[in-house]
Amino acid sequence: MDYKKLRVAIIGCGRMGQEYAKFYSVLDNTEIVAIAEYNDDRRRAVGERFGVKALYKDAEEMYQRPGEVPDLAVTVLPGKFIKDAVIASAQAGVRGVSTDKPIGARLADVDAMIDTCAERGVVFHGGNLQRARADVQEAAGWLRRGDFGEILGATVHGWGGEISGGGCQHIAVLRLLTQAEITEVVAWGKPQEALAADEDTGLIINGRFTLSTGVEVPVFGEPTPYRGVDVWTEDSLLRWDWGEEMEVYQGFDRNGRRIKSDRTFTRFAWPEYGYLASSILSFISAVENGTEMAVSAHDLRQSLEVAIAAKYSALWGSTPLSLPLQDRSLTLYPRPYRWLGGDIAAF
Ligand SMILES: NC(=O)c1ccc[n+]([C@@H]2O[C@H](COP(=O)([O-])OP(=O)(O)OC[C@H]3O[C@@H](n4cnc5c(N)ncnc54)[C@H](O)[C@@H]3O)[C@@H](O)[C@H]2O)c1
Repeated sequence: MDYKKLRVAIIGCGRMGQEYAKFYSVLDNTEIVAIAEYNDDRRRAVGERFGVKALYKDAEEMYQRPGEVPDLAVTVLPGKFIKDAVIASAQAGVRGVSTDKPIGARLADVDAMIDTCAERGVVFHGGNLQRARADVQEAAGWLRRGDFGEILGATVHGWGGEISGGGCQHIAVLRLLTQAEITEVVAWGKPQEALAADEDTGLIINGRFTLSTGVEVPVFGEPTPYRGVDVWTEDSLLRWDWGEEMEVYQGFDRNGRRIKSDRTFTRFAWPEYGYLASSILSFISAVENGTEMAVSAHDLRQSLEVAIAAKYSALWGSTPLSLPLQDRSLTLYPRPYRWLGGDIAAF
């Protein structure tokens, strides 16, 4: 019934914003009521595509119109513009606000967004991370339930190239599978020109994370040949290998080789929309029922914080850095397309 639908505003309708709009437009319990988009032609075209008449230049203009406060403000913006739109949405009185990775560049800016949402009871969703994949969530549930025993080790593979952009994924999956926070980072970075730069483009990080459970996690900056996160217990290994369905091994054969488990993952109801769909569904459930999200803004902040710690540990001579970082002015910019948008910098 229409009056029960959550009213959604999409703020930023570029490449990724339209992916969000596609899923919100097919759900029974959501309705896109407004679009805020800088680019005039795109705003018109996207409005027509999704049948939305209330079109605005940005969040500020939208919130100046009486009656235009949606239930969900879905900000899918280049990094530079995320903070203003998130804080304006929380202050306008939305029930939930959503953003994507990386959540920002400076820790203090991210703290300000998260604090504003927390003070106002606004659910703050973290967006399209592989952590929301149905198989990753199900495997995390098995680990949490103790199906494989105590987690004894973990590794991160291929954590380089853009540690705050794409690298966000590894940290979010590692924390989920190990049910732990990263409490210390030691890192080595290359090449020197990438380490000295303000942004993460091309920076390869090798190092070690310490988890709150005491587990030490070796970090490989390049593929090993794996590209994701391995977690193991006494007799089992669970592997998330960047975009592939998770692999599960349990037990050893006569030669000491791991045996692939015959466990299968439950089929996800919306495979054509991928993990963006599972993430959005968990956001809606959090707003309506107070359940835990597959990806929260806290998860995005932890990913950024680890990337910043790794960059500065490497820059300062592989100094061990404890988390949370005391200096909230530390900053790491993502590559220009992520920070400024595809109209300004090449993808
Ligand atoms: N999670 C993922 O897998 C994933 C993948 C791609 C992009 N992203 C992230 O999503 C975000 C958007 O990426 P994209 O590929 O859609 O970029 P894009 O450049 O295609 O789209 C951004 C849109 O925002 C608009 N815009 C910019 N500032 C605005 C403002 N203040 N108010 C309203 N509209 C504004 C631009 O005109 C553009 O249409 C970035 O933060 C990026 O890092 C995440």
